[in-house]
Amino acid sequence: MKITVIGAGNVGATVAQVIANKELANEVVLIDILDGVPQGKGLDMYESMHVLESDTKIIGTNDYELTKDSDIVIQTAGLARKPGMTRDDLLIKNAAIVKNCIGSAYKYSPNAFYIIISNPLDVMTYVAQKVTGLGRDRVFGMAGVLDTARYCSFISMELGVSIQDVRGLILGGHGDTMVPLTRFTTVAGIPVEDLIPADRLEEICNRAANGGGEIVKYLQTGSAFYAPASSAVQMVEAIVRDQKRILPCSIQLEGEYGYKGAVVGVPVVLGKNGVEKVIELKLNDKEKGMLDTSVKHVTETIEEAKKLLNM
Ligand code: LAC
Repeated sequence: MKITVIGAGNVGATVAQVIANKELANEVVLIDILDGVPQGKGLDMYESMHVLESDTKIIGTNDYELTKDSDIVIQTAGLARKPGMTRDDLLIKNAAIVKNCIGSAYKYSPNAFYIIISNPLDVMTYVAQKVTGLGRDRVFGMAGVLDTARYCSFISMELGVSIQDVRGLILGGHGDTMVPLTRFTTVAGIPVEDLIPADRLEEICNRAANGGGEIVKYLQTGSAFYAPASSAVQMVEAIVRDQKRILPCSIQLEGEYGYKGAVVGVPVVLGKNGVEKVIELKLNDKEKGMLDTSVKHVTETIEEAKKLLNM
């Protein structure tokens, strides 16, 4: 198993480190355009493997040739938000970055799975799919896992119970229009709607939807990376270990949920063949209405990206 991580910033470096700590690959290639940064971080990480008792080899480089024949490529390169910015504000710069990075990686790894993290995430997933021409089973975005992790952590804080007992689901685009599904959220099998009053639950959903912004506001100079990186690694592990996990991923819909061509988060089965199945939930009118709004927003941003990149 060879895994390439594009971008040696906070998210990329953390993704590489967690993959190596968990020994999910024989080799991790950390690539960035900045000379010295991937080399330094990669070597530092590799030196830590002795202590962590992992045999994963980590290489830092600026040269895509070294990414050749990767099984999984994780796209993290791109600008992060500053306070007051939305993820969509990153569109112009990141669309060009993602197009370049994925184009270069695809040349050397035409059979890889591509996991997209750069923002605006659903739109960048569309760009990556366009650039590679690969199917949605191989190109998908990490968003729902992160959004759900935030949502579940807030529910665990609220109830004072183990974070591991909370199971939830967030659909839609990775932005303010995301759709937390309280009806499909349980705590050790108990419907969350029986445990938390509706108005309080709504506040928790709003906090989850703005969870990325909450961290940006604290950090001032960048955005979250521990939870985003861990979320991407959960997807990597599902593929590497063929776990068939049900995780929300951003993919291009082909008629599911009544949309064709839109790229948003929906629950899928992730295993050794990537996205192996899309799970279609029966949504009620309110949930469907929220998903409609989210799809509309992402689709408009995709149209903008298409114009910018002449795609
Ligand atoms: C966040 C960014 C990474 O949600 O989109 O924190």
